[in-house]
Amino acid sequence: MTWLITGGAGYIGAHVVRETIASGRSAVVFDDLSTGLANRIPDDVPLVHANITDSLAVLETFEKYDITGVLHLAARKQVGESVAKPIYYWEENVVGFFNVLTAMQKHGVKNLVFSSSAAVYGQPDNGVDTLITEDAPCLPINPYGATKLAGESLSEALSESDGFKVAALRYFNVAGAGDATLGDPFALNLIPIIFQALTSGEQPQVFGTDYPTPDGTCIRDYIHVQDLAQAHIAAMNLVENSQATFIPINIGTGSGASVLEVFKKVREVTGLEVDPVLTARRPGDPAALVADTNFAKSVLNWSSQKSLHDMVSSAWEAWQARNTIGP
Ligand code: WQD
Repeated sequence: MTWLITGGAGYIGAHVVRETIASGRSAVVFDDLSTGLANRIPDDVPLVHANITDSLAVLETFEKYDITGVLHLAARKQVGESVAKPIYYWEENVVGFFNVLTAMQKHGVKNLVFSSSAAVYGQPDNGVDTLITEDAPCLPINPYGATKLAGESLSEALSESDGFKVAALRYFNVAGAGDATLGDPFALNLIPIIFQALTSGEQPQVFGTDYPTPDGTCIRDYIHVQDLAQAHIAAMNLVENSQATFIPINIGTGSGASVLEVFKKVREVTGLEVDPVLTARRPGDPAALVADTNFAKSVLNWSSQKSLHDMVSSAWEAWQARNTIGP
């Protein structure tokens, strides 16, 4: 079984590639290396260095390799950037995925694990204590979330028209590192943003302290990237042994942490004084977004194993391996 892993040179993709090989499967990585790193790819895993918007490169890959399934992770994922560049996000995340699906259809490849996102839920109007289930309304509030929902919709249609077997994994907030060489190199999400501030001697910010949560700051479901990668293996097992299907699945821990709780964990792990500036809310942030993981447990026989401490400590170790910290 050879799985094509688009985005396999990325922060999440590199962890997924390793677990795929460890599961006894073969892999081919398709990545434009715009944010991925070629040195994250194991030497015995072929790399197709191209962008998924290059439909010919995608088709040639299916002709060259005996692809039996696709893990589609390649996408742009910055919410703010998607608001500024909606055409770019629809081209990369929807046209790119369209090219992959077209090649799958042409070659009769029906196994698909799609990297979707909790961003498809938008701002649920549930209480901050309510866990999000997969049947919650999908009302994305930014182009990023809209492109992920479009991808789900297109792949669901192919499960009906062409018998595709699809697991759409709705990632919550991914963090941590499998080892010191696989950390998230970009300061685009809370934990690496805090590390970046510590490294540069700047004050990190807390976006909003007046939310209807216990400490007034936003609550998110942070999940370790290794747990996420394991969920992909479980999803491959599921689709390989399914009939035509489309299954959206929340991939989180089922418990949340507030922004201030993350800051507290960073202090505990690093031993450094972290004194954030308390600023206004960031537009578009829901007060709480925590996954109900019962369906993932039942349909994948998977649940997260690692703690917020594991995430912050592994991320900190990887960050230090790449950056000198402090004076
Ligand atoms: C987390 C919390 C912020 C920075 C993202 C994107 C997307 C998605 C996963 C895949 C929020 C607060 C942040 C800061 C802060 N990826 N914050 N100060 O917005 O939950 O969602 O996660 O699908 O990347 O949708 O993640 O890390 O940006 O923010 O207070 O300097 O931290 O307000 O409450 P988010 P995030």
